[in-house]
Amino acid sequence: MSSNDTYHVLLCCDSRQDIDFFTNLLRARGPGVNIRTRGVGSLAELRECIDDGIWELVLTTEGQRDLAARNVIAAARDAAVPVIYCGVSVTNEEVDELLLAGASDILRRGQGPRLFHAVSREISAFRSRRALETLRPRYDETLRRCELLLEAADEAIAYATDGVHLHCNRAYARIFGFDAVGDLEGVPQLDLIAPDHQEEFKEALRRYRDRTDETVTIAITAMRTDGRRFLARFELARTNYEGEPCMQAVVHGGALSGRSEMPVLTEEATVEQIVPRAHGVAAIIAPDRREVVRVEQAWKEYSLGSQMVIALRDVSVSIADGEFMALAGPSGSGKSTLLNLIGCIDTPTRGSVMITGTEVSNRTPDELADLRARTIGFIFQTFNLLPVLSAWENVEYPLLQNKQLNKTERRERVGHYLEMVGLGKHSKHRPNELSGGQRQRVAIARALATRPAIVLADEPTANLDHKTGEGILELMKSINQEEGTTFIFSTHDAKVMAMADRVVVLSDGEVVGERHKI
Ligand SMILES: Nc1ncnc2c1ncn2[C@@H]1O[C@H](COP(=O)(O)OP(=O)(O)O)[C@@H](O)[C@H]1O
Ligand SMILES: [Mg+2]
Repeated sequence: MSSNDTYHVLLCCDSRQDIDFFTNLLRARGPGVNIRTRGVGSLAELRECIDDGIWELVLTTEGQRDLAARNVIAAARDAAVPVIYCGVSVTNEEVDELLLAGASDILRRGQGPRLFHAVSREISAFRSRRALETLRPRYDETLRRCELLLEAADEAIAYATDGVHLHCNRAYARIFGFDAVGDLEGVPQLDLIAPDHQEEFKEALRRYRDRTDETVTIAITAMRTDGRRFLARFELARTNYEGEPCMQAVVHGGALSGRSEMPVLTEEATVEQIVPRAHGVAAIIAPDRREVVRVEQAWKEYSLGSQMVIALRDVSVSIADGEFMALAGPSGSGKSTLLNLIGCIDTPTRGSVMITGTEVSNRTPDELADLRARTIGFIFQTFNLLPVLSAWENVEYPLLQNKQLNKTERRERVGHYLEMVGLGKHSKHRPNELSGGQRQRVAIARALATRPAIVLADEPTANLDHKTGEGILELMKSINQEEGTTFIFSTHDAKVMAMADRVVVLSDGEVVGERHKI
């Protein structure tokens, strides 16, 4: 038996009889651990021994003067050595007092089995600590080897949680066209799937979530950062990464054809670059473009009864003049909340929001309303037109608040924007005489009429059929290109996302990824 298996116990008593009592008790311990004891008869001797650092337990009993129990307990506690006190008689008050002083256990002399149990417990705790000390270096070594194996593996392997990459190996980064392994951290898995196959991949993710024991396999068209598409077989399985449960994705490229080379199917018309979040947001904006929105470390918390809902956690985003940007993410991910902060409809619980250089917090409601009217146009999912007003009157309505515009100028503006959205001939129609797409066009004309720097659109296509929605997006895009208006819209529709120049992905209130068109 090595010295690692020797358990060192100090018997701290001022009578020989007590030392014998403890010695006999410890001899009765079964095999498996060597017990070395030493009797000490003064506090100075006890301190000296403890300073050696080899003693793992102190057994003591009622003592006189400086060996009084509380002195012994205090000395041992200072050195983090547990103390078991075993007295002939001890009152309940004394039990409390000694426990508070730091004793591990207080027992009466007659309670032999309990004392035995207390000592056994200390010994097994000691053995666990020793085992851990021995195993830790081996464990670390195993972990290091696993990492090296993962890194060098030919198979493309990644770990993801909630649909976002945590880590991957070199092969995985390479087949998707990333330069460095770290670039994939925080990138949504969906970004690696061709847009028209994303629904299918989501379905596979759902199957993975619903099954607990099986690997889910899907053969799907994936997309590299350079836009090239290839067939990939994804195997999704449950595992742990750094102690947390997560998904392991193993990708076999070209598996459908049985070849190890990836078959390139088509060249994508647009080349997209996935920008990892770690690279920061500000760096992506060209320096000559004015920043119109800056959200910095914004949190939004709602109390819902006794519960706290965190709608946004530590969101930072910078948006330059003239961007055509989408906020993407599933329902409940915080898109509307973020748009409301940018639109000065709401204020963050913590953090700051700057709109065209003006800090939004600490403004009075009047000042906010003013900033909103001058700077921001809104387009809503449900159009929010006034039903009793005609299309013309709906567009004119926000202009009536602007006293600097005379009647002629106002008329010109309304006519111009209704024409721009293709509704010049429908100006007298009321909303209920217009289709969904036409209503949303009126809403766009209304949002633009005040000539805002920023137009915010919360799921502008959610209530429209696909074709009409696409038309609305194209209209917004052409206005963005011709007039330079900044558009920020939210969506959970992959096709709508694909039309944005930049997509910021939210999940559970956090920015988890970002993609740019270059
Ligand atoms: N006024 C509110 N009170 C309480 N919780 C809210 C409120 N508004 C939003 N939330 C919660 O904040 C989270 C984000 O909501 P939201 O921004 O509407 O998401 P999204 O627009 O992406 O669907 C959700 O969990 C939602 O329930
Ligand atoms: Mg919403």
